[in-house]
Amino acid sequence: MGLLVLLLSALAGATLLSTFTLALTEDGKTLLEIKGALNDSRSFLRNWKASDDNPCNWTGISCHPHDQRVSSINLPYMQLGGIISPSIGKLSRLQRLALHQNSLHGSIPTELTYCTELKALYLRANYLQGIIPPEIGNLSHLTILDLSSNSLKGSIPPSIGRLTHLRFLNLSTNFLSGEIPNFGMLVTFGKKSFIGNLDLCGHQIQKPCLSSLGFPAELPHAEANEAPVPTKRVPHYLNGVLIGAMSAMGLVLMLLLVFLWVCLLSRKERVAKKYTEVKKQVGRDPGIKLITFQGDLPYSSSEIIEKLESLDEEDVVGSGGFGTVYKMVMNDYSTFAVKRIDRSCEGSDKIFERELEILGSIKHINLVNLRGYCRLTNVKLLIYDYVALGSLDHFLHENEQEHLNWNARLRTALGSARGLAYLHHDCCPRIVHRDIKSSNILLDEDLEPHVSDFGLSELLVDEDAHVTTVVAGTFGYLAPEYLQSGQATEKSDVYSYGVLLLELVTGKRPNDPSFVKKGLNIVGWMNTLVRERRLEDIVDKRCTDADVGTVEVVLDIASRCTNANPDARPSMSEVLQILEEEVMSPCPSEFSESHSDRL
Ligand SMILES: *[C@@H]1O[C@H](CO)[C@@H](O)[C@H](O)[C@H]1NC(C)=O
Ligand SMILES: *[C@@H]1O[C@H](CO)[C@@H](O)[C@H](O)[C@H]1NC(C)=O
Ligand SMILES: *[C@@H]1O[C@H](CO)[C@@H](O)[C@H](O)[C@H]1NC(C)=O
Ligand SMILES: *[C@@H]1O[C@H](CO)[C@@H](O)[C@H](O)[C@H]1NC(C)=O
Repeated sequence: MGLLVLLLSALAGATLLSTFTLALTEDGKTLLEIKGALNDSRSFLRNWKASDDNPCNWTGISCHPHDQRVSSINLPYMQLGGIISPSIGKLSRLQRLALHQNSLHGSIPTELTYCTELKALYLRANYLQGIIPPEIGNLSHLTILDLSSNSLKGSIPPSIGRLTHLRFLNLSTNFLSGEIPNFGMLVTFGKKSFIGNLDLCGHQIQKPCLSSLGFPAELPHAEANEAPVPTKRVPHYLNGVLIGAMSAMGLVLMLLLVFLWVCLLSRKERVAKKYTEVKKQVGRDPGIKLITFQGDLPYSSSEIIEKLESLDEEDVVGSGGFGTVYKMVMNDYSTFAVKRIDRSCEGSDKIFERELEILGSIKHINLVNLRGYCRLTNVKLLIYDYVALGSLDHFLHENEQEHLNWNARLRTALGSARGLAYLHHDCCPRIVHRDIKSSNILLDEDLEPHVSDFGLSELLVDEDAHVTTVVAGTFGYLAPEYLQSGQATEKSDVYSYGVLLLELVTGKRPNDPSFVKKGLNIVGWMNTLVRERRLEDIVDKRCTDADVGTVEVVLDIASRCTNANPDARPSMSEVLQILEEEVMSPCPSEFSESHSDRL
């Protein structure tokens, strides 16, 4: 009997104890320990409370959907002081740690390397001291490592070279010294990842490692024994370096020649292909000409021309930068968009047609497909695939019934980046769009974005192009250097893309009266609000599904794209990489689910 009572009371005690300990998850407690080591003078973390069940609703925290473990800590621009607590190592499922632009000091805790799933580590712009822990090379999923603008000392641990997924590395503006290890992934990063350090040398920054006497010197690595894979050592003699540099230059020259040759060849090939692709040229009237491109139009020329000739006011669906757009429905109900070009074209008709041929050969899911070209006496018509939902501009700003939720906007950002990166990096010759804006992004039934009007600005001249684009409202999208010089580059496209991202986040046009009144454009306005950490004022109120993590990533990319200095902007492929890593990978399932109930 006594035993039973004892047993019962022990059980009661145990359940009592467990209800207490269940109050907050282990991850929640860990976060409170981390908070304890921070100086949150502005009380941004006031909703981090021990009385909650789990920390998933706390400022800056996101969790894995199934087990409620912490997946991401996003606390940039929070004016946090103090140190990063070693307790962080207990968050074993952490994938993203963003503490950039704070006032943290102390060192980077080696315990951080127990967060074995970590993919992105942003500690930029703090006052972190000490060395870069060599154990960081054990974070095998790391894709983004930004430790720039701190007070880190010592040499760069070779173990970083083992991070095979690393796509972005920035160790700039610290006090690092010694030779940059010529090993593994570290070989793939250039000057921009290492600038502004105390005394670094090595291939990556084109600075040979020499002693003060001009002799090659072996500079000690912090824990050089770290490198587990035998590294290929560069000969430590000036001769070796010179020969190395010369042969590298030779190699680069050869690669360049091969590249040029391939470029020329594929262009030639395309021109040659033209004659096979020009399937339908009708001779009924010398003023009429129809050319169809790859992908073909399964109709007779006379049927197409008849349809084209019958287009009138009632078929108008919009007016783009280059002229009126019509909707053309064939007898089998297939639908196409027809663009009537109002501008004159540069050079002869022959050149115009050849260039169109190149545009017609470009196929990508995120680019609007050009199907054909038709000249009817003195009008020029371009035939495109019809994209059902119309322009993003219309959807964001004029559609009262439906709106795009945050996941759909992310999808638009990603798809547009894919299309643009294709034009910039995979087309030969490369294509600068020159007029990226929301009215040139078209959405299909699945809300997949398609970039339209690429390649046309180069083909068509308009005496008052400068003036008309400004009047047309493109103004807010144009990079400052483009406005000044009229010279469009890939980097001016990147700027416009950055503005497009801001438009997606804010739901406001770049020339919205609310900031024009204050003498700002959308970029200046965003920078002000981000500095004041007023995220809730930035994000479109209609995006109820927006999460701080991805908003933060998109704003970060937008602010880099809209940097006033074109050289500081990322390339479209870099933008795409960051978006794919940061926005898509964490929870693709969540993404496609919300896609089905997107409106
Ligand atoms: C926290 O920061 C504030 C201002 O940033 C400072 O005045 C205060 O002394 C700091 N507190 C601690 C405990 O470091
Ligand atoms: C988070 O907050 C929302 C409302 O703001 C609430 O519905 C939800 O239950 C909370 N989730 C957790 C895990 O506390
Ligand atoms: C890296 O991880 C291995 C186990 O995977 C461990 O044995 C080693 O000590 C770690 N290295 C450092 C420097 O922590
Ligand atoms: C790294 O940061 C520095 C300083 O903030 C910047 O100038 C540099 O462009 C960055 N490098 C890369 C690769 O982004």
